[in-house]
Amino acid sequence: HIVRREDYRAPDWLVPDIALDFDLDAAITRVHATLSVTRNGDHDRPLKLDGDGLLPLEIHVDGQPLTPDQWSLDGGRLTIPLPGPAHLVKSFVEISPQSNSKLMGLYASGGLLCTQCEAEGFRRITFFPDRPDVLSRYSVRLAADKALYPVLLANGDPVEQGDLPDGRHWARWNDPYPKPCYLFALVAGDLACNADRFVTASGREVQLGIWVKEADLPRTAHAMQALKNSMAWDERVYGREYDLDVFNIVAVADFNFGAMENKGLNIFNSRYILADPETATDIDYDGVEGVVAHEYFHNWSGNRVTCRDWFQLSLKEGFTVFRDQNFSADMGSHAVKRIEDVRILRAAQFQEDSGPLAHPVRPESYMEISNFYTATIYNKGAELIRMMALMLGPERFRAGTDLYFDRHDGEAATCEDFVRAMEEGGEIDLSQFRRWYEQAGTPHVRALLSHDPATQGVTLLLEQSVPPTPGQPEKKPMAIPLRTALFDPESGQHRGDELLMLTEARQSFTFAGWPAAPILSINRGFSAPVIVETNRSQADLAFLSAHDDDPFARYEAMQQLMVNVLVGRIGGQPVDEDAVVAAIRGTAIDPLLDPAFIAEAIRLPSEAYLGDQMAVVDPDAIHAARDALQRRIGAELEPLWRDIHGKTKANAFALSPAAKGARKLRNTALLYLAASGAADGATVAFGQFSEADNMTERQAALATLANGTSAEREAALDIFYNRYRDDALTLDKWFQTQAFAFHPHTVDLVEELGRHKDFTLANPNRVRSLYGAFAGNQWAFHHKSGKGYRLVADCIIALDKLNPQTAARLVPPLGRWKRFDEARAALMRAELQRILAVPGLSKDVTEQASKSLE
Ligand code: ARG
Ligand code: ZN
Repeated sequence: HIVRREDYRAPDWLVPDIALDFDLDAAITRVHATLSVTRNGDHDRPLKLDGDGLLPLEIHVDGQPLTPDQWSLDGGRLTIPLPGPAHLVKSFVEISPQSNSKLMGLYASGGLLCTQCEAEGFRRITFFPDRPDVLSRYSVRLAADKALYPVLLANGDPVEQGDLPDGRHWARWNDPYPKPCYLFALVAGDLACNADRFVTASGREVQLGIWVKEADLPRTAHAMQALKNSMAWDERVYGREYDLDVFNIVAVADFNFGAMENKGLNIFNSRYILADPETATDIDYDGVEGVVAHEYFHNWSGNRVTCRDWFQLSLKEGFTVFRDQNFSADMGSHAVKRIEDVRILRAAQFQEDSGPLAHPVRPESYMEISNFYTATIYNKGAELIRMMALMLGPERFRAGTDLYFDRHDGEAATCEDFVRAMEEGGEIDLSQFRRWYEQAGTPHVRALLSHDPATQGVTLLLEQSVPPTPGQPEKKPMAIPLRTALFDPESGQHRGDELLMLTEARQSFTFAGWPAAPILSINRGFSAPVIVETNRSQADLAFLSAHDDDPFARYEAMQQLMVNVLVGRIGGQPVDEDAVVAAIRGTAIDPLLDPAFIAEAIRLPSEAYLGDQMAVVDPDAIHAARDALQRRIGAELEPLWRDIHGKTKANAFALSPAAKGARKLRNTALLYLAASGAADGATVAFGQFSEADNMTERQAALATLANGTSAEREAALDIFYNRYRDDALTLDKWFQTQAFAFHPHTVDLVEELGRHKDFTLANPNRVRSLYGAFAGNQWAFHHKSGKGYRLVADCIIALDKLNPQTAARLVPPLGRWKRFDEARAALMRAELQRILAVPGLSKDVTEQASKSLE
């Protein structure tokens, strides 16, 4: 069954109010729901309520019990013919949280009861029109055993609580803001609270609570600070205040995704809440800050203004990612944050856009909406907002978002509503820009600069094309904003950064007054999510990697310099590796550069990114070439790496941007030092592993050792395991580091780790740390035996029976077969076919695997 965007119809019935009564218990929870329903429009269609795995034990309409002939159940959906314009409908169901391995709806996690309703989990709790354009006021009563579940939380504000005779207790919560059911949440459990407060700009005092297992309380400080910073930032940057008296966050160990923005009660994967120096890396700290901000920002971009239907998902997700990216940039370094975000976009979204699962930011159809929580909806969606913000400039962009929030507050809106608010508030015509929402595929831009010494004129010829994607063979030209500058090679300066709008398939821009040929810096700041091809020489790139004043462009020039050398080497062409070594050295010793930027710039492009630059990906050749270059850089600059490694050692742990940058650079130096072939490489790495007072340095040292075959490798892995075996989040790193290692036997090690006593399919973080990481290890996953494909397919098949959503997330790496040689492609297809042949396969995995074969 396929859902299509064009089939959208307003709901037949609205539910202005709902009262929910939960009698909570891990084995059997009783749910009583009272819905006030009103007929929407002039029609005589019956009330239809979604349900998934529910059996109505009682149904009442306006106080009267219904007999079984007065309702019907079809594919889980409850149909009740109703005569009048408004009725009160009550249902009673029983559900079993402890048997809910899908982690959608109400489920048990480590002794807690919690919910996940987005996108379609609420129908697993009670019968309801489970679509985001039905907004209701919720009144929720929770009752549970007081010893097992001393804390009872739901959306909105707490109203009342009390004890019950049989060792149970109850609490009532009211949420005054009408919301779609995907934002419903409850939590019951034995939780401790990190309590704090925030006073909003207009003087509302908000009680903040981060709820975790008692033992985890010391690891919540960073999340709390991030929350308070986010609240202040949204007031300052978007004029958006928080709107309830309480804001609660709960951390749970078993969670399908990162976190969920339920109104007033965010529920998080614990890996995005818990952090301390002993167990969290700097990347983890940034993840906590970014995800706390993301979920908080959803209170406006998602909750106060929600989505009309799931085709509009990027309305809230793209915008909210854009907001969290800018928040994180403001908290740390804009330059480094942009580089990181583009790296993620290229690794995840560009790959998606060039494969069988490519879809527009606003998709046209889906089988299972859960499969559309993608890098395209999130990260490319954020790039679309970023382009609009760039074209409008800060004031007009703010006018546009003000108009959007004011106009649609309390509504379920569309991507089109957002674009229209930008057009009106920002006074701009976005007709052609709308194609970014419609056309899938990453646009390619060819930029050819030519110079005429006679006229001193420069012509920049730009050509664009968007490759065909499933269902979209022909594409129209896009509106592509390209920040561009021309550098004078003599002075090392440019004459101003211009925003060029490429709107035609082929377009020329001319520049006068250049006696000598300038050097082109284009797509500065990565102003558009496109692939740019230029006719710049290696010398031009070396120049830009030393002089470009736009940090992203400078980084990009360096990366391109490396890509050209590596791809050339793989293709058997003569290449100048010395230029790369020189550029790395120049960057690494530049005293004016931020160490975090240096660390980003001097790292070789990933094997996957190199694969993306080739017509047919050759994982072994890529690995060999990259490894050889890394060794050469290590060996030729060995004293430099030793020097940096020594100089960046801190006396005590700090979380300042400077300290984080120093660690990042130190870890990069260690990587090159280990690659240098120096006899003491493993000793130095083991020294760092043993002495580190923080996980950033400890894990980097472990990862460096894991790439090799030294005795220190085994020692470090054992020490790490024994130290963290009881700490699930940290033990994930042990699995992940091995799955991600460039080790000749990674495939076999992963197979063994899949049988390890600490491996479990029941915990999504553990699955991702082993199989997710492994599928991202190009060299190992694409082992020519096909064993890597088989391991991942086995995992998908086994996991599908428990948790189809998480299983489906492992399918895309197998779907990239078209990019590989025939032998690998055949092996990958065979695994996809084997998956599809499994009887009773979920719709989640069916959609991903069948689309991947097309
Ligand atoms: N809205 C959540 C977030 O991005 C993610 C929910 C994911 N749910 C899903 N079924 N894919 O913050
Ligand atoms: Zn989100």
